[in-house]
Amino acid sequence: MDGKTHSLNKEARELWDAKASFWDENMGDGNLFQNTLVDPATERLLEVKPGESILEVACGNGVMSRRLAALGANVVATDFSENFLERAKARDTENIKYRLVDATDESELLALGDTGSFDSAVCNMALMDMAAIEPLTRALAKLLEPNGRFVFSVPHPCFNSNATTMLAEMDDDDGELSTKYSVKISGYLDVPPGKGAGMPGEPNPHYYFHRPLHELLGACFEAGFVMDAVEEPSLGEESRDGGSPLSWRNLTNIPPVIVARMRLI
Ligand SMILES: C[S@@+](CC[C@H](N)C(=O)[O-])C[C@H]1O[C@@H](n2cnc3c(N)ncnc32)[C@H](O)[C@@H]1O
Repeated sequence: MDGKTHSLNKEARELWDAKASFWDENMGDGNLFQNTLVDPATERLLEVKPGESILEVACGNGVMSRRLAALGANVVATDFSENFLERAKARDTENIKYRLVDATDESELLALGDTGSFDSAVCNMALMDMAAIEPLTRALAKLLEPNGRFVFSVPHPCFNSNATTMLAEMDDDDGELSTKYSVKISGYLDVPPGKGAGMPGEPNPHYYFHRPLHELLGACFEAGFVMDAVEEPSLGEESRDGGSPLSWRNLTNIPPVIVARMRLI
């Protein structure tokens, strides 16, 4: 990692540590995105079997780890924020193991186990928070068993990044006035790291490291994975609630999230 990436990563950790309690109180055992978009697709793609050993990278308050443990998996949950790990432990009633690991540090990751220690790995809504992802994909290629799965979810890089603007416009269809909701994309191939909020009302913004699909998936392909399943879930009509018009709730035809399954070959 070069010096600039290293200092961004250090600042990123401080920013996450600072909002762990806010995040935990608002995420709890799952918010709308987690329960509707992230969790169902992740579980479908992971195809968890009882007794499997699963590594969660960047577990946050442990919401996914608890679900996987409840499905019978042996889970090792990792994050680089001590405050997040404390929050996760405080909510845990399963037998989850917790480790403080910076996912941008390949040697810290490799210290988690021998070659082939895990059946699968999951990383929900966090790759875009990492200053570098190649150390993680390289380490996973060693930590997972042959044919092992790596499932990740991220805000959809095509539609949901720090170069996205949400729009609500008045349309006139043959005299019938209606509101049209859309997103405007002002950048995709090269969007520099920038700060933004993960949830409304957060105490401090954190860094987003946007990667176009060829970079995101390319880091996995380079490490020896192939992609063998993908979902692009969106919020359903039932999520429209009359709140802010500028919300993913009103963009039911555009996926805010992409969930991919990588498999070692
Ligand atoms: C948006 S939260 C997602 C948390 C959880 N996976 C979820 O879906 O609720 C991002 C998490 O990534 C963690 N994180 C960011 N960069 C990391 C890194 N380099 N290594 C480990 N964890 C990291 C943060 O501490 C935070 O817990």
